[in-house]
Amino acid sequence: MTSNAIESVLQETRKFPPPAEFTTQAHISSVEQYEEMWNRAKDDPAGFWGEISQNLDWFQPWQKVLEGQMPETKWFVGGKLNVSHNCLDRHLTTWRKNKAAIVWEGEPGDTRTLTYQELHREVCKFANVLKKLGVVSGDRVTLYMPMIPELAIAMLACTRIGATHSIIFGGFSSDAVADRNNDAQAKLIVTADGGWRRGKEVTLKPAVDESLAKSPSVEKVVVVKRTGSDVTMVPDRDYWWHDLMEGTSADCPAAELDSEHPLFILYTSGSTGKPKGVLHTTGGYLLGAMMTTKWVFDLKDEDTYWCTADIGWVTGHSYVVYGPLANGATSIMYEGAPNWPHEGRFWEIIEKYRVNIFYTAPTAIRAFIKWGDQWPNKYDLSSLRLLGSVGEPINPEAWMWYHRVIGGERCPIVDTWWQTETGGIMVSPLPGITATKPGSCTRPLPGVVIDIVTDKGESLGPNQGGLLVIKQPWPSMLRTLYGDHQRFKDVYFGKLDGMYFAGDGARRDEDGYCWVMGRVDDVLNVAGHRLSTMEVESTLVSHPAVAESAVVGFPHELKGEGICCFVTLKTGAGDESLKKELINHVRKLIGAVATPDQIRFTNSLPKTRSGKIMRRLLRDIAAGRESVGDTTTLEDYNILAKLRDEE
Ligand code: WT7
Repeated sequence: MTSNAIESVLQETRKFPPPAEFTTQAHISSVEQYEEMWNRAKDDPAGFWGEISQNLDWFQPWQKVLEGQMPETKWFVGGKLNVSHNCLDRHLTTWRKNKAAIVWEGEPGDTRTLTYQELHREVCKFANVLKKLGVVSGDRVTLYMPMIPELAIAMLACTRIGATHSIIFGGFSSDAVADRNNDAQAKLIVTADGGWRRGKEVTLKPAVDESLAKSPSVEKVVVVKRTGSDVTMVPDRDYWWHDLMEGTSADCPAAELDSEHPLFILYTSGSTGKPKGVLHTTGGYLLGAMMTTKWVFDLKDEDTYWCTADIGWVTGHSYVVYGPLANGATSIMYEGAPNWPHEGRFWEIIEKYRVNIFYTAPTAIRAFIKWGDQWPNKYDLSSLRLLGSVGEPINPEAWMWYHRVIGGERCPIVDTWWQTETGGIMVSPLPGITATKPGSCTRPLPGVVIDIVTDKGESLGPNQGGLLVIKQPWPSMLRTLYGDHQRFKDVYFGKLDGMYFAGDGARRDEDGYCWVMGRVDDVLNVAGHRLSTMEVESTLVSHPAVAESAVVGFPHELKGEGICCFVTLKTGAGDESLKKELINHVRKLIGAVATPDQIRFTNSLPKTRSGKIMRRLLRDIAAGRESVGDTTTLEDYNILAKLRDEE
């Protein structure tokens, strides 16, 4: 244990300068260049972002770069543009028109490549389909789909006509779909019969059918035939994608939309209450996604780029679809699991497509480590030139493995810190210039002004842990929580006046490098996905046997955090079969991502005198640690000992 601790300290002081060959060819290739950009963006944001905005195609130029102050900001005021035009049409007048935009691989091994021209045609056709079904600019459209090209097509088709998409990860249950449909008042939903995951079909259409009984705003359903399984089609409500597309015109001019037109809603977990509908708008978001893709991944036209995230999460929005396509890149999209039909599937894909840039999550990396080096070692990974990580702090051990086994000690690693709310990467190495340290996301990108502060907003010195805040507005920041602007102001700006509080704790070291220490509120980070403890708790309490519950995370080897549920029953003691029942109950109502790892029955929960559950203590118990913290506010001291025994 002791030697281990010393070793990890040593690892953290290790520094990996970028290889000289990488630096020479990089978009941002000197520290001076970065500092000049960063200072300019800080001192003259309008001048900086105004110039950078020329990387987009505008139908009508903006009059003002930035209006207002946080939290009420508008970017590129008066400007008109279209996301699908910027991701597609503008490449068609260049040599890129026959370049692969999306290279897709299904889990069973089927493949599809869509060139920019082909993708454009499909998008225009589906945009016309949406119009035919009554969707107009400003309407919300839910997308609940597997990782198939039709998902990207549907997203871009929405943007083409000004419909706001709300993507729901395919692992969520029908209740989650209904809640989100209702919150967004979605008019139409695009889904599929199902998708493939570990050789089995994950059905989607049945969940949509169930959800629609509870979300009456949805009038029409479009269904992609992916697996061919039996589905029920309701006349005048449900339509097959392929039937609608047949004979539909591919001529659909891109709508000229205001820079602040709502582009998408993406639901994410908060510590209390229902999921938050993070709203992103057109100009600022796209510029953020485009430029961060170019700077952080040092993206070049000849690169084959692969971000393994599901499009149901923000990483997929910004770094599978919008960022890469705005840059005219080739983006790989894979439908299935990393271990199907074998644990080498990702490495096989890298070898097959000669992938140059690979972006994945620490939770996946830990699984790769567990499966063994023999899998990556079987394949030729020499095409890789850059690796990325996102979703949670990457432990130095996993970083070192990624560097050595996947990167062949030659690829820089970009550990990218950001959030659904930030729209794009905020703090990250720039691979041509940053000497990386395993476990640190290093320094903020140009245009990003961060600080580490006390809960009173005072700046902290080197190596003092505090709250990570953002002090200046940035183009791709969320504009509101859909339908609840007050909550938006309270959650992100209510704690510290004039600053955006990200919810994360962090420290900065003596080199100004940022080390994110995880979330400070009651949000779990399970396999890189944010889940609300509150949602899991209320789901448990919805079971007739349960009186009260408290849900906490605990360190989990693969998932980063596992879910531990302390449950008080209405009557009697729980047994194994009730544990199973409760686990299934949560799975069914929230989805497989929220599957509890542990259920612990207890007669009482530790509470403060004011009745607040002391999660910190429960976290210690779940992790098998002795509680050393302050327990003076605890109502009943005996509870702690009891909780341990009740295991
Ligand atoms: C939270 C955001 C950003 C896309 C994926 C998750 C954690 C994310 C890192 C990183 C340390 C990270 C934070 C953040 N997080 N990336 N590189 N290092 N922590 O998006 O669901 O909005 O979650 O994920 O806690 O606040 P999200």
